[in-house]
Order: sequence, then structure tokens, then C-alpha cells
Amino acid sequence: MTKKNSLSITDNRTGKSYELPIENGSIRALDLRQIKENSEDFGLMAYDPGFANTASVKSKVSLVDGEKGILMYRGYPIEQLAEQSSFLEVAYLLVCGELPAKDEFDQWSHEITTHTFLHENVKKLMEGFRYDAHPMGIFVSTVAALSTFYPDSKNLDDAECRKHQIQRLIAKTPTIAAFAYRHRIGLPYMYPDNDLSYAGNLLNMMYRTSEAKYEPDPVLEKALDVLFILHGDHGQNCSTSSMRFVGSSEVDPYCAMAAAAAALYGPLHGGANEAVLRMLREIGDKKNVPAYIKRVLNKEIRLMGFGHRVYKNYDPRATFIKKVADQVFEVTGRNPLIDVALELERIALQDEYFVSHKLFPNVDFYSGIIYQAMGFPVEIFPVLFAIGRTPGWLAQWQEGHLDPEQRIARPRQLYMGYGKRDYVPIGKR
Ligand code: ACO
Repeated sequence: MTKKNSLSITDNRTGKSYELPIENGSIRALDLRQIKENSEDFGLMAYDPGFANTASVKSKVSLVDGEKGILMYRGYPIEQLAEQSSFLEVAYLLVCGELPAKDEFDQWSHEITTHTFLHENVKKLMEGFRYDAHPMGIFVSTVAALSTFYPDSKNLDDAECRKHQIQRLIAKTPTIAAFAYRHRIGLPYMYPDNDLSYAGNLLNMMYRTSEAKYEPDPVLEKALDVLFILHGDHGQNCSTSSMRFVGSSEVDPYCAMAAAAAALYGPLHGGANEAVLRMLREIGDKKNVPAYIKRVLNKEIRLMGFGHRVYKNYDPRATFIKKVADQVFEVTGRNPLIDVALELERIALQDEYFVSHKLFPNVDFYSGIIYQAMGFPVEIFPVLFAIGRTPGWLAQWQEGHLDPEQRIARPRQLYMGYGKRDYVPIGKR
């Protein structure tokens, strides 16, 4: 039998058959529309809450193979990038599509390093937040506010202009993060030191006090850089899809990225590392792990940092992060919560429920423990995630803008509400 790249469907309501082309392992959802019960019928749609089986875009940025536990950026395995590259180089790779030549990298790094400062009015805006404002709330709002400082960013069809906004955002996110952190603890904002590396400068803006020159610990600087690489991009996750969704309206990238960061804030997404740490603190000791797992099995709670929509195997980022943890602990001393985490992982991975549900630790299970050992408070964790994810969001946003198939995102709904009914005045209800 000759192989045909098509799908034959028989509609049992009408007895009619249809042949839909299969391309890249998928059918076009709009091809279903021709399947109608009668001429009045709108046509068949696919109902897919949470987009569990719907490809919304064609992308070349990152590949996530959840069954095999593989993650690649532009074809390069995440392990190789984490071991041999740097965050700024990976950012170039994600945004521009290839690893840079030496002069391209120097130019790219120079552009980013010289855009780290914030307009003084952005600083004033940040000062207006309450003393205890969550840094992620400050981050989301400040990124959106940048749109008013750079009205040229609306010029989406100008490639140079797009690149400029991308560099600005990659450059300024650490400064916003550090100011948000210092705002919360009442320390004066520390301006960027452009002699330092990307990660080293973030540590400087967070932790420098009265010393004339801040010298970051090279192990911690490297660990932070690696954590940013591991968070660089991850297919069409909730925040990236939000970036593309909002970006599809052709709003400027600052507003689109504020939407992406807002999506990341949720505890089921980038807020999970914060939730993991709270969970580990609540468990407190290795001996309390079995009782905690029992509550998970009774469906009273979820094990935070476990499970993933795509990975049905070990998350490759989680494997790498464990190595980073050991390096960091050599400098900072062992975080006692790591023992609770290891015990949780050990017991969970032997349990029939976790095995049958293919629930493994995800990237957030260990990242929070490392961040905490490095002195970061839990509230800043999602902001650190956002810094790492910024190049991925922007690469995906740009890819969407340049895709001739991109249309404004506008899903359909299955309306389950009332049919027409007449208004009743308030006194007669
Ligand atoms: N603990 C216990 N059970 C779980 C967990 C968990 N962490 N995650 C999923 N399950 C169970 C569900 O109860 C469900 O069981 P059932 O079929 O017996 O009812 C089954 O696994 C499928 O769960 P869904 O919620 O349908 O899976 P989904 O793909 O929608 O959710 C998610 C993925 C949100 C990541 C989920 O696994 C979760 O809530 N994990 C904890 C939060 C977390 O760590 N988020 C970070 C994700 S990584 C990232 O965003 C960077």
C-alpha cells in the first residue's frame, strides 16, 4: 500500500467522508471547519483546554522532547551550552539563530553592557511601590512602563529597531530585578557596574554595600550564569505563549514581555521555585517526608517542583542543576533543605503514583535551593527566572512577528451559556 500523508475522517452524523492533509505530523485545525452537519452548521472545531495537543506556531528556537528528556536551543543540547557557553552568547544564539563569531559577540556584549542603566524616572516609578511590594509585581509593572520611555519600540517592522529593544530588555532586566530587591529591603539602589560580567553585575547591584568595587565570587557568578542559560527558552510554555499571544496584536515588546512575565509569576509556572522552597521549609526535616508524600497521594496537595506538561522523563535542566548545587554549596555551605529535597525525590521516584503518572523533578525543584544558598530571598526567584527567560521570550516574539502565517491570536470558545432571554427590571427579579 502506498503511504499517503493524509487523514480520512467519516462524519457519522452525515455519513460523509473527508480527507485532510497531514503536514509535519499535524492537520490544520481550519481543515476541520468543512465538516458540517448541515449548511447552517459552523463546522467542526477541536476542543483543547490548556492547548494540550494544539500546535499554535512553527518555531525554530528550542526543541523540548519530553519523552526522551531532551532540550536543545537552535539544535545545541542544553548540557553543552550550560557547560561551554555563556548566557550572553546563548542569548545571541536564541535571538539571532546562530552562535556568534568573535566580532559579532563583542559587539552584542558591548551593546548589552552599555544599556544596563535605567532612566532616572524609571527609578522614581519603582520608588513609588509599597515597601513590601513583591519584586515580581514591581518587575512586571516596570517592564510595561519601559514602553512609555521607548515609544520608538512600536516600529516593529524595522529590524534594527527590534534588535535595539531586544538588547535594551536583556540589558535592563537585571537592573530592574536588583532595584526591586533592594526596594523591598530598604537599601539604596545600586547602579550597574559595566566592567563586570552580566551575572557578576547582577550580584553587584544586589549585594554591594560600601565597598568601592564589588568583586563577585567566580563560582557563584558562573552558577548564576548557568542558571540563566538553563532558563533561556522552553518551547511554547505559558509565558512564551503569552508573549506571542499579546505580541500578535502588534503591541510593543515591552508590553508583550510584561504579559509574559505576569504569566511566569503564577505558582504553576515560574512561581514554582518559590513554592518549592516554602514546601521544603514546611516539611522541615527528612523524617517528615513520608507523611508529606501521603498527603500528596491523598490529593490534598501537589508536590511542587514535580511534574511537567511536556517532560514525561527527567527534566534535563534538573539533572544539570544538581551539579551546580554541589559547586555552589562548596562556597556557601550546604543548604540543609537539599537533604529534604533529595529524600523527597528518592521516595517519590519509588512510588507507584509518581511512576505511573510520569512525575519527575522539574527545573524548579532544585533552582530555589541554590538561589537560597546564594542569599537570594524567595520573592526574587521568579524574577531571576524572568531574567533568564528574557532572550527566549524575545526570540519567540520576533519569530512570530516575522512569520507570514502569524495572525492575531483569537481562540474560539464552546459557548455553554443561556440562549436569548429578555431583560427583567431590577424591581421584578
Ligand atoms: N504532584 C502530585 N500530582 C501531580 C503533580 C504534582 N506535582 N503534577 C501532576 N499531578 C497529577 C495530577 O493530579 C493528575 O493526576 P490524575 O490524572 O490522577 O488526576 C495528573 O498528574 C496530571 O496532572 P495535570 O495537572 O493534568 O498535568 P498538567 O500537565 O496539566 O500540569 C503542571 C503540569 C502544572 C506542571 C503540574 O505537574 C503541576 O502542578 N506541578 C507542580 C507545579 C510545578 O512544579 N510547576 C512548574 C512547572 S515547570 C515550569 O513552569 C518552569
